[in-house]
Amino acid sequence: MRQMTLVGFLQAQNCSNFVGSWRHPLAAPDFASAEYYRRIGRALEAGKFHLGFFDDRLAMPDLFGGDHGHTVANGIRCVKMDPVTILTVMGMATERLGLGATYSTTYFEPFHVARTFATLDLMTEGRAAWNIVTSMNDGEARNMGRASHDDHDGRYDRADEFLEVVMGHWDSWEDGSIVADKATGLFAHPEKVHRLDYEGRHFRSRGPFTVPRSAQGHPVLIQAGQSGRGQRFAARWAELVFVAYHELDHSKQDYARFKALVEAAGRDPDQVSVCAGVYPIVAETRAEAEDRAALVDSLPKEIDSLSLLSEVMNYDFSRQPIDEPFTEEELASWTGVQGMRDRIRRIMGDRLPTPRDFIEITRRGTAKDHPRFVGSPKDVADGMEAWFAGRACDGFVIAATHVPGAYEDFVRLVVPELQRRGLHHLDYKGTTLRENLGLPRPEVGAWKRAR
Ligand SMILES: Cc1cc2nc3c(=O)[nH]c(=O)nc-3n(C[C@H](O)[C@H](O)[C@H](O)COP(=O)(O)O)c2cc1C
Repeated sequence: MRQMTLVGFLQAQNCSNFVGSWRHPLAAPDFASAEYYRRIGRALEAGKFHLGFFDDRLAMPDLFGGDHGHTVANGIRCVKMDPVTILTVMGMATERLGLGATYSTTYFEPFHVARTFATLDLMTEGRAAWNIVTSMNDGEARNMGRASHDDHDGRYDRADEFLEVVMGHWDSWEDGSIVADKATGLFAHPEKVHRLDYEGRHFRSRGPFTVPRSAQGHPVLIQAGQSGRGQRFAARWAELVFVAYHELDHSKQDYARFKALVEAAGRDPDQVSVCAGVYPIVAETRAEAEDRAALVDSLPKEIDSLSLLSEVMNYDFSRQPIDEPFTEEELASWTGVQGMRDRIRRIMGDRLPTPRDFIEITRRGTAKDHPRFVGSPKDVADGMEAWFAGRACDGFVIAATHVPGAYEDFVRLVVPELQRRGLHHLDYKGTTLRENLGLPRPEVGAWKRAR
């Protein structure tokens, strides 16, 4: 029976994906401590989550008004710690949970990223995953020594090359290279360790790579592109795909279209799990869950939305009166997340959107920017089952209204209901993330044939 993939949507920051979460009365304040992340890891593993994954940005969301004052004052994701370091801590507190983090192909070097994730994969016995992003905005560019963020499609061209370097390095050590034979003095077979000698348009990297292959071959690849170019990139490379779907019927179409892209890229669509971001709000009874949702909805401020929209669109929304439409030229010039802008254009038809339209349609800055399932354990499981069985997704990225309570409630109340229905596995099937996702261990060079 087909079963869902469950992923915890994690942030190495002062709030969850939902900024207002830090204002929640039950939010734990110790986000800068190791114990906070160990507790999340243990909760997700108790619920047999396949993976906990950290998003990332390389800047504060300070594009709004060109200043970080409002960001810090309102706690708008103003803390952002390195996610791989935190995964190492979580890996030491868990045994089966997959451990994913976001690293940028625009601002890092492929050799460095390949080495960081390959090392994490060894230290966690094959549980690592990399969420590949091309990053979003000028704030990130300025922190990383550039004047501005590169154009959208050009970033993906660079990302394609970045992946060729990373995958090439991950293939450098054949299985069985190391013998460590003290009697003969042979440490490893030289003919089984290869130099990459990569020379492309954007990258050069010689090798040989310095980290041997892990128990799962190499880390699992995650991607979340929403634009046409982003989806083609995901279809080529990703083994897990995160999507921001909004409405069930459209999602079924988007899902089918994406799976067709995977097939067109010469890959098996069943080997690429599509996971939709969602907010579950659960309690013992529906009435109690609705009270919890009302509390969550009292937490956002308008500045949260404006600041995060500026960040994601790479455009300063303070330049625009809130009810004045943007011009065609302004909208066309944005280099941030195109998929989100394009969705608004689609919904509004011929009318040009104002900042308020962006707030109301995207709901960015609130706990409504992903679909939400509110109610008793049965209600939440019904909602998830409708999406999963209806082929709108293969699993879910569970976002938290507050941390760690939202994960703990989900694991205590919803997971047993999903398991009772046979929708979620009763236990981990193996030790590596690939085994638990039902993915084969890749042979050296397999990616070249498939892609
Ligand atoms: C669940 C989820 C998590 C994401 N995490 C990140 C992230 O950590 N960093 C980032 O820059 N973008 C993140 N994104 C955004 C995507 O990577 C991508 O940039 C965005 O969807 C825009 O798609 P496009 O580049 O194809 O226009 C995430 C998207 C989703 C749905």
